[in-house]
Amino acid sequence: MTDLKLKNIRFDLDADGVATVLLDREGEAFNSLGPELAADLFAAIEHIEGNDEVAAVVIGSAKGDNFLSGADIRWLRSLDDADTARQLLTQAQDGFGRIERLTTEKGIPVVAAIHGACLGGGTELALSCSMRIASNDEKRTQMGQPEIKLGLIPAAGGTQRLPRLVGIAAALNLILTGRSVRPRRALKMGLIDEACPKEVLFDIAKKRALEAAATAPDAADDGRKTIGRIRSFLSPAHLQQLALEENPVGRRMLFSKAEEAMLKETKGNYPAPPAAFRAVKTGIDEGVEAGYASEIDEFSELIVSGEAKALMSIFFASQDLKKDTGTDSDADPVKVEKVAVLGGGLMGGGIAAVNTTNAGVATRIKEVDEAGVGRGLGYVAGVLDKQMKRRRLKPRDAAKMMHLVTGATDWSGMSSVDLVIEAVFEDLELKRDMVRQVEANTGPDTIFASNTSSIPISLIAEGADRPENIIGMHYFSPVEKMPLLEVIVTDKTADWVTATAVAFGKRQGKTVIVVNDGTGFYTSRIIAPYMYEVGWLLEEGLSVEDIDTAMVDWGFPVGPVQLIDEVGIDVGAKIGKVLREAFGDRLAPPAGFDKLVADDRMGRKNGRGFYLYEDGKREGVDETVYETLGVAPETVLARTEIQDRLALQMVNEAALCLEEGILRSARDGDIGAIFGLAFPPFTGGPFSYVDSVGAGVIADKLAKLAETHGDRYEPAAILTDYAANDKKFRS
Ligand code: NAI
Repeated sequence: MTDLKLKNIRFDLDADGVATVLLDREGEAFNSLGPELAADLFAAIEHIEGNDEVAAVVIGSAKGDNFLSGADIRWLRSLDDADTARQLLTQAQDGFGRIERLTTEKGIPVVAAIHGACLGGGTELALSCSMRIASNDEKRTQMGQPEIKLGLIPAAGGTQRLPRLVGIAAALNLILTGRSVRPRRALKMGLIDEACPKEVLFDIAKKRALEAAATAPDAADDGRKTIGRIRSFLSPAHLQQLALEENPVGRRMLFSKAEEAMLKETKGNYPAPPAAFRAVKTGIDEGVEAGYASEIDEFSELIVSGEAKALMSIFFASQDLKKDTGTDSDADPVKVEKVAVLGGGLMGGGIAAVNTTNAGVATRIKEVDEAGVGRGLGYVAGVLDKQMKRRRLKPRDAAKMMHLVTGATDWSGMSSVDLVIEAVFEDLELKRDMVRQVEANTGPDTIFASNTSSIPISLIAEGADRPENIIGMHYFSPVEKMPLLEVIVTDKTADWVTATAVAFGKRQGKTVIVVNDGTGFYTSRIIAPYMYEVGWLLEEGLSVEDIDTAMVDWGFPVGPVQLIDEVGIDVGAKIGKVLREAFGDRLAPPAGFDKLVADDRMGRKNGRGFYLYEDGKREGVDETVYETLGVAPETVLARTEIQDRLALQMVNEAALCLEEGILRSARDGDIGAIFGLAFPPFTGGPFSYVDSVGAGVIADKLAKLAETHGDRYEPAAILTDYAANDKKFRS
C-alpha cells in the first residue's frame, strides 16, 4: 500500500502506521500551490482515507528550506473569471476539509512538519492539520497569510481556521497586514504547538503523531481540544484577550475597533482588507460554513479586480527585476568585496549599514574629520541596535557586522576598493573633486558611484580620466528601509560597471532599476512637478490640510506638503533651480519656495515649515505660513480636482521620461514610483494607472488643465500617441 506514485507528492507509510506526505512540486525549487500539486495532495489524502493501516499522518515538504510558499502566483494571475476561481476554491476548501476530517471523523491525527516558508495556502494547509510543529529556524521558517498584499484574501479556510486557533484579534492582525511570523512568535500566539531543531523535525512530528493516535482523539473535536492544549502556552494578556472574544459584547467591540483602524489605513482604496474582515466576521457570527462560503464569494470578486491585478503586476515586475542584469549586453558583474563610502551623513551612514547587514562587505567610511567618521559609524551601530532589539539579529552577528565597517579621514587602505559610493554634500564641484581624488587614490578598475539626488552623472564625470567607471547609485532615505535603488548610466558608462552596480544593489537587498542619465534621472524628476504643484495650489488659495488630505485619500502615505517639510524646503528649492535650468519654465518652482527659504523655513529639520513642530513632533499647520507666502487659504476645490492636478503632474512627467528614453521600460517606471516615492501601489504605478484609466482620458484631462493653468500640463506626446493607437504601456 506504500506504492502510491504521484508527480508532486512523495508518499510513504512506515511500519508504525505513520503516513508521510511530502510536498514536492515537480520541476520547481519551491512548493507553490497550483492545480497539479493540489490534485496530488488530495489524491494522497484519498489514499489515506481508504487505508486502514494508517494510524497517523505527517505532512511536510521534500524541498530544502521551504514548506509551501502559497498559491502559485502565475496561476493566480491567469485566473480571470470569477466562476473558475469559485470552482477551484471549492475544491481547495473541500480538500483541506478532508484533511481536517481525517482527525475529527476518523481519529487520525495529522501533523504539519514545517520548515521554511509556510505562507498563504501553506499556512492554510497547516491550519487544517490537527497539530503544527515547526523548525525553530528564525531565519528560514515563517508562517502567515500574505494574500492581502496581492489584493486577495485567504480563501482555503484561512479566514475561518486562523481566528479559531489564535483568536480573532491576532488572526485579523495577520490577515489584514499580511505580515508573517517566525517560530518563536508563532509558538507564543498558539499558531504552532511546538518548535524544534530542523534536524529532528520529522522524528518529533512522527512521535507526536503517534502519541496523539494513542490517545485516540475525540472524533467530535472541532478544534477546541487543540485550542485547550495550546492555551497553556499563552500569556495571561493573551488569555484575557481570548476571554474577551468569547463574550459577544467584547467581540462586537473588537470587530468595530478593527474595522475602524482598517478603514483609516486603506481609505477605501483597497477592497481586499474589508473583504477579509467580512469573511472573518461572517464565520464568527454565522458559523464556519457561512464563513467558508463568504471566503469564496469575496475571493472570486477580488481576483478579477483592478487592484489585485495591479498588485500582482508589481509582484511580477519585482521578480523580473531580480533577474535583470541591468544591461542588454552579456557583460559580467565584478564581485565586490571592498567598498568605500564617501560621507558618513544620513545617506552615507545608511549605505554603509546595508553594505554590512545585507551585502556583508568590508566598508570604509571616509569623512572630513573624526566627528564625521563617528556620525557614520554611529548610524551603522544604530541600525544594528534596532535589529537586535527586534530580535532580527543576534548580538554575536551584529558585532561581526560592525567589524566590517571602519572609518578614516584619509585615503589609506583604499587602493584596493572595488567600489566607491559618494554621498557627500550635493555640490557639483565637490563631487568632481571626489572623482579626481578617487582616481588618484584607487585602482584602474575601481567604480565611482554617485548618490547625487539631482546632478546629472555625466556632469560629475566631466574631466574624469575614467568616465567609463562612473555611474549613479541613487538611494532613498532611510536607506536601510527604502527598497529602491535607481542606477543611472551615462553614454560612457561601461556595461560591466552597470552590471556590477546592479548586482551589488541586489546584494544590499534593493530592487534595482536602471535609468539613463538626465537631470533628476527618473524619480527626482517626477516628484518635482508634483511638489511644485503644491506651491501653485497654495497660491490659488488652497489650504495645506485640503492638499494633504486629498493625496492621502488618493493613497499616498503622506501628503505632498508634509513630504516637502520632510525632504526640506531648501532642498526642494535647490533641486528646483537645477531642474529649471534643464527643462525651462515647464519645471520651474513657484516663487513661494524662495519666500519660505528666505523666512528660514526649512521644514522638519529646523522645526519651521508648513507644519509646526514640538520637540521634533509634527503638530498642526503653521498658520503663519500663509502670511509668508502672501496668500489666504480661502479657495475650496473638489477633492478629485486636487488629486488630478497633483497626480497627473507626476504621471505626465513619468510619461515624458519614457518618451525621452530616460526610462528603459514602463515596468521600471511603475516600480521606481512605487518603491522609491510611495506612489499608491493599488494603481500599479503611473503607467499601469494610465492603462487602467485610459491614455485618452489622461491626455484629455491634461489638455484641459493646460488650457486653464498653463503649459506645465501639456500632455506628453507619448500619451496622445498611445491614446490614438489604443496602446497600453503594460500588458
Ligand atoms: P548629509 O549632510 O547628511 O551628509 C553629507 C556628509 O558628507 C557630511 O557628513 C559631510 O561631513 C560629508 N562630507 C562633506 N564633504 C566631504 C568630503 N570632502 N569627504 C568626505 N565626506 C564629506 O547629507 P545626505 O543627506 O547624506 O546627502 C548626501 C548626498 O546624498 C547628497 O548628494 C544628496 O543629494 C544625496 N541624497 C540625499 C537624500 C536624502 O534624502 N537626504 C536622498 C538621496 C540622495
